[in-house]
Amino acid sequence: GGEMKPWNGDVHTVLSPICIQTSAGLKRKVIGSYPLCGPEEAMTALDAAVSAYNDGRGEWPTMPIAERIACMDKFTGKMIEKKDEIVKLIMWEIGKSYGDSVKEFDRTIEYINSTIDSLKDLDRNSSRFEIEQGIIGQIRRSPLGVVLCMGPFNYPLNETFTTLIPALIMGNTILFKPPKHGTLLHYPLLEAFRTCFPKGVVNTIYGRGNMIIAPLMVSGKINVLTLIGSSKVANQLKKLHPKVNRLRAILGLDAKNAAIITDKADLDLAVKECVLGSLSFNGQRCTAIKIVFVHKKVADAFLEKLGAAIGKLKLGMPWEKDVFLTPLPEPQKPVYLKECIDDAIANGAKVMNENGGLIYESLVYPAVLYPVNGKMKLYREEQFGPVIPVLPFDDIETPIEYLIQSDHGQQVSLFSNDADELASLIDPLVNQVSRVNINSQCQRGPDIFPFTGRKDSAEGTLSVPDALRAFSIRTMVAVKQTEENKK
Ligand code: G3H
Repeated sequence: GGEMKPWNGDVHTVLSPICIQTSAGLKRKVIGSYPLCGPEEAMTALDAAVSAYNDGRGEWPTMPIAERIACMDKFTGKMIEKKDEIVKLIMWEIGKSYGDSVKEFDRTIEYINSTIDSLKDLDRNSSRFEIEQGIIGQIRRSPLGVVLCMGPFNYPLNETFTTLIPALIMGNTILFKPPKHGTLLHYPLLEAFRTCFPKGVVNTIYGRGNMIIAPLMVSGKINVLTLIGSSKVANQLKKLHPKVNRLRAILGLDAKNAAIITDKADLDLAVKECVLGSLSFNGQRCTAIKIVFVHKKVADAFLEKLGAAIGKLKLGMPWEKDVFLTPLPEPQKPVYLKECIDDAIANGAKVMNENGGLIYESLVYPAVLYPVNGKMKLYREEQFGPVIPVLPFDDIETPIEYLIQSDHGQQVSLFSNDADELASLIDPLVNQVSRVNINSQCQRGPDIFPFTGRKDSAEGTLSVPDALRAFSIRTMVAVKQTEENKK
């Protein structure tokens, strides 16, 4: 509500994935703390957002778009002033390499600027009048109300802002809970939110999701739920809303993207793209390649090249030059990945690369498991870490059937150098997922492209222009044409 509330209650101690030597051995470094708010504070923040929206009569939802854009420009300017601080916090809080943390920041600024450009286009179109069958219509985009916004730990700034910024600039008011791993990096922006937008328009709350989010949903006062996270959590939250038919959900959820490498693929290219696709930010991307299907005829050659390529990757601390693999922020993740690897081995797979699966506190060396089959956890579970399950196939129907049976439907990477083969596979694949990447890794960008998924992978579409539509409703003013207004 535009006030910085002092906090005397419990706090969550933030541990970095980066470990330091202590008298008790190697331990995750303490880098700060944040308040563990409860339902009462959450409801105070909600009330502030509701009253700033004021059923669409508030200062922000009624502000002319040019003025909203001016507020956003001011905010972006203040954000750029904090770049160094935010980038370092991204690095320390989630272990992202310094270079990738800088990229995340820059991509976010670019995203805000493109959103503003896109809004200007939308606004120009909205100020046009159309005449049809004696009716003059002015079509507009109007806000939806209070948006509850939650982002993921892997892109705690960028992905959070790919929903928060379009929701905000469309005239909605915001309740924002930063991700558990990725909270401190939002501190430097609190003052900018407070001073660049009217009181109560952006409200940040800290705490455990299960304590503070449930009462917000139960209140029925949330108009839009936007979450980039798990489909399980999204479904639980939606169910809490007393009038779920009035709730709009814009969700980026689980994915198990597959790479398919045919016997006509350029294997060097396939390996290069699979390494980037599976292991960038340690495989902690919803868009990561999380299972690889390789044609039996080329499987041995592919695995050999893949192992060699992984062997060249540098594992280390995020600030080290050329580092590619870095510490994992989720304390339980190394344990879970080990379980997946052990389960695959118990069911007949082997670790195919040197040092694969070695764990040193929060550092996990990538493991390639082969041959993976339907009995293993890695076959269906979204590992979200540096483990690459590989399956052999001799009939292209095998990977297609896998996608058909999957609960997910985000992306596929298809590798082949045969144009006829590619042409014959695009339709069967694009009917299962929302993006087919030819001879390249799965990825979200460029941010102007639609980012969505089928089945449990998404609800709504988040590209720069699509997000503006997602957080607004098309409304119109219709005027019956008369002799008088014709003049
Ligand atoms: O975690 C999901 C992100 O949207 C991935 O984005 O493909 O640009 O890394 P990216």
